[in-house]
Formats: sequence, C-alpha cells, structure tokens
Amino acid sequence: MNYGEDKLISHLLLSLKNYNYETYKHSLRVAKLSFKIANMIHLSLNEQLSIYKGALLHDIGKTMIPINILSKPDKLTSTEYDLVKLHSSCGANMLEVLSPLMYLIPAVLYHHERLDGSGYPYGLKFIPLSAQIIAVCDSFDAMTNKRSYSYKKVKSFDEAIQDLKDCNNKYNQMLVSALEKVLKNNESVFLRKNNENNGIAI
Ligand SMILES: [Fe+2]
Repeated sequence: MNYGEDKLISHLLLSLKNYNYETYKHSLRVAKLSFKIANMIHLSLNEQLSIYKGALLHDIGKTMIPINILSKPDKLTSTEYDLVKLHSSCGANMLEVLSPLMYLIPAVLYHHERLDGSGYPYGLKFIPLSAQIIAVCDSFDAMTNKRSYSYKKVKSFDEAIQDLKDCNNKYNQMLVSALEKVLKNNESVFLRKNNENNGIAI
C-alpha cells in the first residue's frame, strides 16, 4: 500500500461526502460487501484490497453530475437518466489523471456493464471480475436502500437476492451465492432494518 494512493482516495471520498452524502454512504456499504465477497471467493489479499478501493470510488463520477439531478426526489426524465449514466465514464476520466489510482479504472468504468451485454457504457459481455463483484453489491444495495431519484419500492434482503438470482443472464451467479453467504455469516452487521428506502443502481 502506498501513502499517496490512500491520501488520494480519502480526498476523493471527502469530496463525494460533501457533494452527495447519500452516494457516499452507498459507496461505503458497497465497498464493505465487495471486500467480503472477494474474501469469500478466496481472492488474494491484494485483490481484496483493490476491489475494496475500486468499490469505494465506483460512483466517484457522480461528483460531475449536477446535484439537482442526483438529489431529485422524483423519477428522472430520460435525459436526466442519460446524464446520470455518464458517471462511470466520468469516474474513469477522473482516475486517469491520478496515476496511483489508474489501476482502479476497470472497476469504476465497467461497474454498470452486464453479462448479457445490456449494461453501459459499452454493452460489454466480458467484464473484469472486480466490476462484476461491484455490480452485484451495487445493485443489491440500490434495491435495499433509499435513493432520491428512484421511485422503486425498497426490497428486503431476501427479495433483493432473489431478484439477482432471477437476473442470471446479467449477474455472475457464483458472486450472488457468495453475497448470500456473506449476508448470512454477518447477520448482525448487515441484517439491519432497511425499510426506509427504494433504489435502482444507476
Ligand atoms: Fe454507479
């Protein structure tokens, strides 16, 4: 680990926290779950840490999206939704000029790609494992927590896991099973009352 890298991550997270607290909290939760999954599937400690850091920054590009859209209490228009979808590319662009963090670009850039090619920004079917792990945790967290601009009903943990299983063409099911085990093994940490929310992973 290198000091410059950690300092940069702290600064970026602080800007995210100040810009949009909701996305900051979401990023912390996604990072915690992603790290646990990486551990559950026996990746090396270095890989676990990279995935943790990539997940912390996966939505950093949202600091480039107008705040009135990010914090809009109602459903987004299709134009607004298209703007929000730019955040994965914006995040990658931000990391491109921060050389110690460039290795995290695949995790950030591809976290909305889906295995059936229906994701964005490129519609890839072959997706780096880091981005696949973050995608599963991101979608799970979006379904089980409140998001300003989402009108969707908040789901229980079981319902969210079932949804991920139903989308077996989009999400890596080995990772969905790992997430299910992580949640069961860490009940006291993750199984909290989550009835204040509704989300979609944008
Ligand atoms: Fe995202």
